[in-house]
Amino acid sequence: MKTFCLILCLLPVLFTIISSTNIDCTYQIYTFFVIGPTYYCKVSSNLNITSPELAAIDSASDNHTASKSNDDVFGFWAENKTVNFFPQNLDKIFKNLKLIVIMHGKINEIYQDDLKPFPQLEYLNLHNNTIEVLEEGLFDFNPNLAFISFANNKLYKIHPEIFDKLPKLSFLFLDANKCVDKLAKDDYKALSKAIKEVKFKCLNDTITTTTSTTTEMSRINQEKLMDEKNSGSKFELGFFVILGLVLSVLNC
Ligand SMILES: *[C@@H]1O[C@H](CO)[C@@H](O)[C@H](O)[C@H]1NC(C)=O
Ligand SMILES: *[C@@H]1O[C@H](CO)[C@@H](O)[C@H](O)[C@H]1NC(C)=O
Ligand SMILES: *[C@@H]1O[C@H](CO)[C@@H](O)[C@H](O)[C@H]1NC(C)=O
Ligand SMILES: *[C@@H]1O[C@H](CO)[C@@H](O)[C@H](O)[C@H]1NC(C)=O
Ligand SMILES: *[C@@H]1O[C@H](CO)[C@@H](O)[C@H](O)[C@H]1NC(C)=O
Repeated sequence: MKTFCLILCLLPVLFTIISSTNIDCTYQIYTFFVIGPTYYCKVSSNLNITSPELAAIDSASDNHTASKSNDDVFGFWAENKTVNFFPQNLDKIFKNLKLIVIMHGKINEIYQDDLKPFPQLEYLNLHNNTIEVLEEGLFDFNPNLAFISFANNKLYKIHPEIFDKLPKLSFLFLDANKCVDKLAKDDYKALSKAIKEVKFKCLNDTITTTTSTTTEMSRINQEKLMDEKNSGSKFELGFFVILGLVLSVLNC
């Protein structure tokens, strides 16, 4: 009877392990240009974000270097990982992120809501993903951005004003995209040239309606998936209530 009770009690632990995305970090300090020495999480194991549900990050490994904690983590770096969707809830773990680097991934879409939780963000590098559209207001909640890279993506449509309210912006990499192939490295002239090119070449008005429908569709899908995730946690709650009842009936 005792063993049986023990197994029942371990079920929820098992359940949580199966239904969550955890990241393994190697925490280290590196001097990034633009932002300087930064204690950051470099994702060390494989990440496998192949569906929006898996994009919700539940935890990060806790092996900090001496006297550091999650609040001291200012950067998140994932390179050559299977990341098809922008990670969610990172701000719940690392609430002070200034730097986000997700490169050589397969992120296809990015929204204002993905970046909104990071008001201190200065450095965003999404080099070599498959992003196609940068929506209106994408950086409205990230006024401190100084470094942005979408180099080597599939950008064909960029809202013409998204770079206009970023007074600190000095590094902008938009090379090797569909509608733009320009970069600026701390060079004001090159920067205004790149932004000008975006305004001329990346409007892609002809497909405005289809794009907004696709965006709308994926938003709806995202919301649906969030609902599913929420109903998942309702399911979990129900599960625990029933487990509690069973345990008490069995006199565990
Ligand atoms: C921290 O733990 C992860 C696995 O959980 C490991 O891959 C990584 O190398 C460790 N980092 C340090 C600094 O010990
Ligand atoms: C990632 O997830 C997909 C689909 O769930 C699976 O087929 C694949 O084996 C996983 N890869 C790794 C490295 O875990
Ligand atoms: C990631 O992949 C790119 C391209 O395949 C390669 O150049 C780079 O060295 C890889 N980085 C790491 C840390 O494995
Ligand atoms: C881009 O990333 C993919 C992995 O998603 C990798 O296979 C490829 O080599 C990278 N390309 C470049 C030019 O770094
Ligand atoms: C506009 O978007 C469409 C749809 O993806 C694309 O095929 C086309 O090449 C784009 N036009 C320009 C000028 O980038």
